[in-house]
Amino acid sequence: MRTAEHARTRLVADLERDGRVHSPRIRAALQEVPRHLFLPGSDPIDAYADEAVPIKTADGVTVSSVSQPSMVAIMLEQLDAAPGHRVLEIGAGAGWNAGLLAHIVGCRGAVTTVDIDDDLVEGARANLLAAGLDEVEVITADGAAGYPSSAPYDRIELTVGSTGIRPEWVLQLTPTGRLLLPLTVRGSQLSVAFARTTPHRLASVSVRSCAFVRLRGAGADPGADTVLPGSGWSVQHSGNGAPDPDPGLLERALHDRGTDRPSPAPGSVSDLWDGLGLWCALADPAVVRLLGPSRGRLADALFPLAGGRAGLGITTDDGCALLLAEPAATLRSFGPGGAAAADRLAELADRWIAAGRPHAADLRIDAVVPGPDDGRSPAGEPLADSAGTLLYPSWGPRPDERTPPGRGRSSGDTPSGGATT
Ligand SMILES: C[S@@+](CC[C@H](N)C(=O)[O-])C[C@H]1O[C@@H](n2cnc3c(N)ncnc32)[C@H](O)[C@@H]1O
Repeated sequence: MRTAEHARTRLVADLERDGRVHSPRIRAALQEVPRHLFLPGSDPIDAYADEAVPIKTADGVTVSSVSQPSMVAIMLEQLDAAPGHRVLEIGAGAGWNAGLLAHIVGCRGAVTTVDIDDDLVEGARANLLAAGLDEVEVITADGAAGYPSSAPYDRIELTVGSTGIRPEWVLQLTPTGRLLLPLTVRGSQLSVAFARTTPHRLASVSVRSCAFVRLRGAGADPGADTVLPGSGWSVQHSGNGAPDPDPGLLERALHDRGTDRPSPAPGSVSDLWDGLGLWCALADPAVVRLLGPSRGRLADALFPLAGGRAGLGITTDDGCALLLAEPAATLRSFGPGGAAAADRLAELADRWIAAGRPHAADLRIDAVVPGPDDGRSPAGEPLADSAGTLLYPSWGPRPDERTPPGRGRSSGDTPSGGATT
């Protein structure tokens, strides 16, 4: 008979086989902290499917979930917490990841986890107690301010998406601490592990794709997608200083026939927010992503995603161009400036191919948080995030890294824009 323990052993073996888990201490934590105790009332065996499980919704939108095991494993590897570390988690949810962290840091370490909702905190406390991990400090607090009372931390992990790196988090790290967070960069949500290099500077050590629910409270970003009236389509803002797309042009794309030309890159749904899409959005703030219904003329031409359709495009003053899934390797342009927009998208795709089709894992980001200037500015033009931190993204390995583009790519990382974890 299958038991929860068998199901857990199978899940951990699958995570190892798929390259999500490498470290013995993370493997041991996943094996020994029973996820089903953090989903009371659910079938214990179902708790070991590699899926995020929503636990709280507001206005029909998921605001809390027990995260997807493969994403949790990827992030624990990125965090690299060790026995004896002091760790802050922001986004306790049901407490599962905090339990895993407590197992990893052991009795010489300490884990504090905060959630903005009292009911979730109460649930997390009860779940941790049931799992015998009641040494975790579970607090109701808005994690936008970190949690200064138990600082400094060797590691801070957000398990909730943010559009900015708040100085509070950096200042609550030890001098050699690490900050891990799902950070939205030009519309792509990326799980970025940063090492603190000086009091106000960070350098990424690992970047992966992810899709988390967004931070609420003081750190929430009110920026909303532009909805095209009556169509069910919305245009995702690229943020980080990108101009608002012209909805009129995009509406026209939903109705006009447009003009097709070949695209250098066939594209896939994972490329929209990760490889090609991330490359294009970082190079050109006029890049947009569309999300919409699965039916309709344009929908049939775009990429299937989570029961709907998604697309990647670029807008100019008087035209736009979109990368199509069907026919494959096609760019469709609309309006008088559409041909120029298609040329620009084709040029960016050419450059992406020439660079070896890099993905999120090939990106590195330096960050300078507001505060006294304590070093030489990194090279390149910065993007400002919603907390006023300057981000300096660049492609390729750091000078001391030798592995080619694509290294460490995790084929099943959850693409941004897809299901949230
Ligand atoms: C994806 S869930 C966390 C998953 C959880 N860590 C686990 O082990 O599965 C994200 C959590 O972040 C919380 N959250 C959102 N905004 C927050 C804030 N400003 N401060 C603290 N927690 C927040 C939500 O209430 C939600 O429980």
